Amino acid sequence: MNKNDKIYVAGHRGLAGSALVRQLKAAGYTNIVTRTHTELDLTNQVAVQGFFKSERPDHVLLAAAKVGGIHANNVLPADFILQNLAIQSNVITEAWLHGVKRLLFLGSSCIYPRDCPQPIRESYLLTGPLEPTNRPYAIAKIAGIEMCWALNRQHHTRFIAAMPNNLYGPGDNYDLENSHVLPALIRKMHEAKSRGDKDVVIWGTGTPRREFVYSDDMANACVLLMQLPETEFDIVLNPPAEDNHPPLVNIGYGNDLTIRELAETIIGIVGFKGKLVFDTSKPDGTPRKILDVRRMNQLGWQPKIGLAEGIALAYQDFLTAGIK
Ligand SMILES: NC(=O)c1ccc[n+]([C@@H]2O[C@H](COP(=O)([O-])OP(=O)(O)OC[C@H]3O[C@@H](n4cnc5c(N)ncnc54)[C@H](OP(=O)(O)O)[C@@H]3O)[C@@H](O)[C@H]2O)c1
Repeated sequence: MNKNDKIYVAGHRGLAGSALVRQLKAAGYTNIVTRTHTELDLTNQVAVQGFFKSERPDHVLLAAAKVGGIHANNVLPADFILQNLAIQSNVITEAWLHGVKRLLFLGSSCIYPRDCPQPIRESYLLTGPLEPTNRPYAIAKIAGIEMCWALNRQHHTRFIAAMPNNLYGPGDNYDLENSHVLPALIRKMHEAKSRGDKDVVIWGTGTPRREFVYSDDMANACVLLMQLPETEFDIVLNPPAEDNHPPLVNIGYGNDLTIRELAETIIGIVGFKGKLVFDTSKPDGTPRKILDVRRMNQLGWQPKIGLAEGIALAYQDFLTAGIK
């Protein structure tokens, strides 16, 4: 990527997209194109065609998606599969038709099989049944990855998928019904502290293990992938034969912790003095989900923000920006 190449970041106001824009700007890229959801509905094929025709971006980072936690995935399964299939299909197809040099599609660790061995390697995609609570979302995302792989093989595009684990950071979604576990816990603890509650209720048993990546670390990894010299990028696109899998790379922190440990860390940072109560009638989701990040590490990437430091930064952002 040259510094004045035109780079389209789809979903630039989201958690991942805003981090990508920050990272690109910090790295000196000056020609970043963005559109809000209102300006360009990516589920609208004609509108997306018009956008690519007029803007002709050199590179695309696709971070626009219908995203949510267990509750949102349970109650809006049709929205998750239909909107994500449409967004991806429109953007990936137009990127191919308009000769985009590199496209990075954001996948997610939650689309690997529910019970695959840990840590999860890239080659485990499609090797077993999916977690039922987010299957429509996962199938849409897997279709996007297959679309990139198929276009690479048939039309020689250079499209790649990045597979981050749970993200958190500035601009996160703190809606209690639609958010992910870490921002939801920040909000719950903060509100419990403000009200002077004696306890805070947490969904599930607290035993599932999760891995969390600060959004700016994820963005740093994505920009590194977009900047790789052609020969190194080729290796990422075409992994060795014995490891045959789509063009994807995991992005994880490298360590996980239980939801209980996470909650205890957040309690300390927020300063809530009450106790934790686990509502075991609520679903836990996948028991463990840690990514094998050796491929990304081999490319020279390491996360820079530790969990406690990242949560403190996210909490500051929550206090400053308020709830969205
Ligand atoms: N958050 C995580 O923990 C996590 C973990 C792994 C992977 N990822 C991946 O990262 C990507 C982005 O996730 P995120 O957490 O950043 O989500 P997010 O904060 O909800 O942001 C998603 C963005 O997409 C935009 N968008 C949604 N539908 C659109 C449409 N029809 N047309 C145009 N824009 C649309 C949203 O705009 P509006 O808000 O205006 O609708 C928003 O800016 C997803 O592919 C997700 O799978 C996220």
